[in-house]
Amino acid sequence: MTRPIVVIGAGGFGRETLDVIEAINEARSPSPFAVVGVVDDAPSELNLSRLAARGVPWIGTIAEWLASDTDSSYVIGIGSPSARMQIAERLDSAGRVAETLVHPGATIGSQSTIGHGVVICSGVEVSTNVTIGEHANLNPSVTVGHDTSIAAFVSVNPAAVISGDVRVESQTLIGAGAVVLQGLTVGEGATVGAAACVTRDVATGVTVMGVPAR
Ligand SMILES: CC(C)(COP(=O)(O)OP(=O)(O)OC[C@H]1O[C@@H](n2cnc3c(N)ncnc32)[C@H](O)[C@@H]1OP(=O)(O)O)[C@@H](O)C(=O)NCCC(=O)NCCS
Repeated sequence: MTRPIVVIGAGGFGRETLDVIEAINEARSPSPFAVVGVVDDAPSELNLSRLAARGVPWIGTIAEWLASDTDSSYVIGIGSPSARMQIAERLDSAGRVAETLVHPGATIGSQSTIGHGVVICSGVEVSTNVTIGEHANLNPSVTVGHDTSIAAFVSVNPAAVISGDVRVESQTLIGAGAVVLQGLTVGEGATVGAAACVTRDVATGVTVMGVPAR
């Protein structure tokens, strides 16, 4: 059965999330999703014009959507871990269902589990026995090694490599092209800069960058 869905977020990742939905719909018959539109509390004029160019309507703010549409499920297409968590908590308490989206061009290994609200983009490689927590985002071409756990609300930016047996705690942001070496822990709310190489555990809430990451 086709399910109505909205994407929260008119920005870049919101529109990439639309691409994931479109690819899933093309790969499956019948198509699982019917996109109702995009919800955003403050879309920029530029993002509204980008949405219009692809023929997807902006259907209003979160409050307006909640008040006008009781049927649609949702997915959050916003890169910021903390923004995603706040919105998910609000929508969970409103009883809304979060969809899990895995692009057909991603590879998911055996014994891996994926939480609700997760978005996995094209070219992602998830190895065996990986846990991905709710509302985590894996951007295009991310690699996640065996036995690793990615907690809730983590964002892994394009082409980052998370090695085996790594623990990435909740609300962490791993920058584009970063590498986290095997067996390490990246603490809750930490940020790993783009192109960093993480060679030691990262403490809660800190930002590290460079090679080796400091
Ligand atoms: C690490 C990061 C979080 C720092 O952000 P910030 O606190 O706003 O830092 P600023 O831009 O003010 O830069 C501060 C300093 O760090 C340096 N710096 C910033 N990012 C860096 C990185 N990834 N690696 C090495 N140095 C970096 C800057 O050159 C600057 O150096 P300076 O003080 O000598 O001029 C950010 O730059 C980053 O890498 N974010 C991830 C981006 C990403 O993944 N983008 C893809 C989106 S899809």
